[in-house]
Amino acid sequence: MEEKPDVISREVTAEERVLDLTLRPRTLSEFVGQKANKEQLHVFIEAAGKRGEVLDHVLLSGPPGLGKTTLANIIANELGVNLRVTSGPAVERQGDLAAILTNLEEGDVLFIDEIHRLPRAVEEILYPAMEDFKIDIVIGKGPGARSVRLELPRFTLIGATTRVGLLTAPLLTRFGVSCRLGYYPIDETEAIVRRAAGIMEIEVDDTGTREIACRSRGTPRVANRLLRRVRDFAQVRAQGAVTGQVTVAAMSLLRIDDVGLDVLDQAILKILIDKFGGGPVGLKTLGAAVGEDPDTLEEVYEPFLMQMGFIKRTPRGRVATPRAFEHMGREVGGGGEKLF
Ligand SMILES: Nc1ncnc2c1ncn2[C@@H]1O[C@H](COP(=O)(O)OP(=O)(O)O)[C@@H](O)[C@H]1O
Ligand SMILES: [Mg+2]
Repeated sequence: MEEKPDVISREVTAEERVLDLTLRPRTLSEFVGQKANKEQLHVFIEAAGKRGEVLDHVLLSGPPGLGKTTLANIIANELGVNLRVTSGPAVERQGDLAAILTNLEEGDVLFIDEIHRLPRAVEEILYPAMEDFKIDIVIGKGPGARSVRLELPRFTLIGATTRVGLLTAPLLTRFGVSCRLGYYPIDETEAIVRRAAGIMEIEVDDTGTREIACRSRGTPRVANRLLRRVRDFAQVRAQGAVTGQVTVAAMSLLRIDDVGLDVLDQAILKILIDKFGGGPVGLKTLGAAVGEDPDTLEEVYEPFLMQMGFIKRTPRGRVATPRAFEHMGREVGGGGEKLF
């Protein structure tokens, strides 16, 4: 295996996209955890079915890798309808969205990933589409241009976003159902590891499962990713079985620490502590210092570091907490000398 440390929470690879298809739960009952969200969806799906109506529009929000795309697929599957997939950045012009909407069939689910990145002009034609299943499009240019109203089939829009705070009020209010996905507790993450190990036919014992789950940042995508890495390591170094010991050894090779921080998370904390005495540091400065795009820092890394109580957002910038100093083995307020 490659001995290069990697950034485990980063973007999805092509290999992973293929594997995602086999690991992705297909039904609500296969989807581990998120009990309240699942119950809510179950009720709405069943009620819509009984009334013969389309499901209300659904907004799925939360950090990357928690199951938003998976849930969109499950909802369409449970409704027994087609799923059409697009994403905010892919829909550049009103005409692009109009083409997608007019090609839907009655009852279909349209999934718009990263819906917070939809251009504003495009977003505006979504309002009447969501509310009244109608759109107004302009045909022609200049003085001869005229507006034509088109009837759409009734459909369900599912929007997914990592940044619910960036959605405009008019868009937000048009979603009847909103599911906010949170990080998974350890026992649910263990269940996800066990499920994936079963599907991939990987032998993992209980301590192996636990060690992987503890380092998965409460994120199913990371759990699946770590499991595969540990499997590779076990095949090369340890006759195939994934035990606690093998997991710990594989993690140290990947430079993932005991709470799941990877090299980039560790770099963020080190820079905050050692270079800036714990902060506050502005997001842009921090991004430049670790060589990562500030948006990615904000969307991918910070939520977990905040959840762990390692950093705080303040009006003047990001601050490392005493807990972060302790975790990184630095003396609190000591300006970053190493303790060991
Ligand atoms: N609740 C869950 N139970 C089991 N596996 C899950 C769950 N949520 C996500 N996964 C797994 O994690 C992977 C990433 O989930 P995905 O839906 O792509 O996340 P998101 O769209 O929120 O970034 C999926 O391929 C799936 O295998
Ligand atoms: Mg997704």
